[in-house]
Amino acid sequence: MSVVVEPAGVAAVVVPSVDAAPESQAVAWRHRHLLDVDRLSVAELELVMRTTDAMREVLARPIAKVPALRGRQVTILFYEASTRTRVSFEVAAKNLSADVVNIAAASSSVSKGESLVDTVRTIEALGADMLVMRHSVSGAPYLAADVFGGSVLNGGDGWHAHPTQALLDLYTMRERLTGEPLAGRPRGAVPGTGFLAGRKVAILGDLLHSRVAHSNIWTLTAEGADLWLCGPPTLLRGFEGWASRSALAGRRLHVTTSIDEALRDADVVMALRIQRERMAAGLLPSLREYAARYGLTRERLAMARPDALVMHPGPMNEGVEIAPDVAAGAQSVITDQVTNGVAVRMAVLYLLAGTRPSA
Ligand code: NCD
Repeated sequence: MSVVVEPAGVAAVVVPSVDAAPESQAVAWRHRHLLDVDRLSVAELELVMRTTDAMREVLARPIAKVPALRGRQVTILFYEASTRTRVSFEVAAKNLSADVVNIAAASSSVSKGESLVDTVRTIEALGADMLVMRHSVSGAPYLAADVFGGSVLNGGDGWHAHPTQALLDLYTMRERLTGEPLAGRPRGAVPGTGFLAGRKVAILGDLLHSRVAHSNIWTLTAEGADLWLCGPPTLLRGFEGWASRSALAGRRLHVTTSIDEALRDADVVMALRIQRERMAAGLLPSLREYAARYGLTRERLAMARPDALVMHPGPMNEGVEIAPDVAAGAQSVITDQVTNGVAVRMAVLYLLAGTRPSA
């Protein structure tokens, strides 16, 4: 039995009963793959959030498992380093009773020159129903989705997208933003629907190389946030174009090099890692200078609302983009982000599994 709930302003969302098989549920989810979050409507985001609530309830049980994906094989193929994303996908799939196959690209035939398409076809021939993939090339999961018969979940591709990170960030905000938005704040893009309407969210740091930020821009503005992107000009290249495109769609996206402007009265402050491995020479004078001008310190955080949430997708360079006492401080929800990653990934695996017949 599914439960029908009606959140304010959002059309009725049918939440699946996650103890039952996903294909037996009458939920409004029509995507076979999760490659990015740019195509998800506010109602679909709400469905993910509420399915995540249901998964949280499963995780609180003495035996934190449901049989939903019994008999299905989830293959995790990561071509780039990862701790939290890879492990949380694995834990999520196991909590849903899936069979999990882990492939580290360095130990596969990829290192012998097998093409991505051959690798994906081989994985499918070995029985995979769902493929979770991380790749350093933007767009690689889209290529995989073209040839794979099951569902592809993007675990991060190049600078482009990291959909499950954006969803777990959204879930964490939804759970932890409890105070009222500041009076007089203009409402967001979808008045009365997005739960972030009237909220100011600032994302600081290496926007240029951040797939986390690229995905968060879609979800946060869809939910009505007043979103500020802030960093040195070399790490903000291209976002002005996004801002004017988004403005056309009625979304609230601002780009600034002024950390004071970005932080003033913010409800959420998200710091991003300076991605040294993707940094071309000349983009930053030095990490020390970056830390001095843009690092999230206690003094700077004081410009935000007193109850502002501090977030970071990890891994952190403490002392560069975020001071250790801020990362570990009372306003930090960084550990919640990691914990919520399991429930969110259970939710998306479950929803995607319902869009095709069981293999
Ligand atoms: C991020 C990633 O890999 O894109 N981390 C993550 O998945 N939690 C961010 C980063 O590498 O800085």
